[in-house]
Amino acid sequence: MNLVFLGPPGAGKGTIASEAKNHFDIPHISTGDLFRSHIKGETELGQQVKAILAAGDLVPDSVTIEMVKQRLAESDAQKGFILDGFPRTVVQADALAEMKGLDAVINFVLDREQIVKRLSGRRVCKSTGKTYHIMYNPPKVEGIDDETGEALIQRDDDKPEAILNRLSVYEKQTEPLIAYYREKGLLIDIDAAPSPDVVLASLIKAVEK
Ligand code: AP5
Repeated sequence: MNLVFLGPPGAGKGTIASEAKNHFDIPHISTGDLFRSHIKGETELGQQVKAILAAGDLVPDSVTIEMVKQRLAESDAQKGFILDGFPRTVVQADALAEMKGLDAVINFVLDREQIVKRLSGRRVCKSTGKTYHIMYNPPKVEGIDDETGEALIQRDDDKPEAILNRLSVYEKQTEPLIAYYREKGLLIDIDAAPSPDVVLASLIKAVEK
């Protein structure tokens, strides 16, 4: 099963992908996570993209496409994948079409007010990447990761200015992909507003249909 998760920042793509990957037994490939892991490891690519991510801008297509090409060539991705956060531009979508066929593109639909609430309340564990929300999915002890006991952090790009920029970048550069994939008959709209369990169940039902 080759799936793409499309949708605005904060719509819940990563949250749902972390469960859907077990159901479909395929890897969850998040370009945001790949970039953050390069930043954490202080690689050359990490240094190149650090300021871009913090501002909420897009990494250049050529860099992103090459990184995804390499990841999709790994053995675990041969049985299928969930691509979360890629493609984000028409150039990336065209490049993906040359690499792999797709079974479906899931479009996570959520209104702007909810997006801002989800992003501003998100907290993450820096070492494991586990995601919480201060209201919707709080840790057992406030500000502390349930598993590692480490202090949770707020992503640089979840600060108010970066959130507004990410939304504007999404509208200009990524939203056109909705029509792109609808035309190809691949798009499945999913209401991302209900609880994660409900969103996951409707996604599985829609994909398996
Ligand atoms: P990336 O990490 O992909 O950011 P994003 O697309 O903006 O997505 P998010 O991770 O912010 O949101 P999400 O939809 O996964 O939501 P989540 O599940 O966490 O990319 C970061 C940056 O990397 C980009 O800005 C760019 O610079 C660069 N980049 C990445 N890909 C690129 C590409 N292809 N090209 C160029 N540059 C690229 O949920 C959000 C919050 O809501 C959490 O707190 C969660 O607990 C909560 N929540 C989730 N679901 C629910 C629910 N159903 N009910 C209540 N709360 C919920």
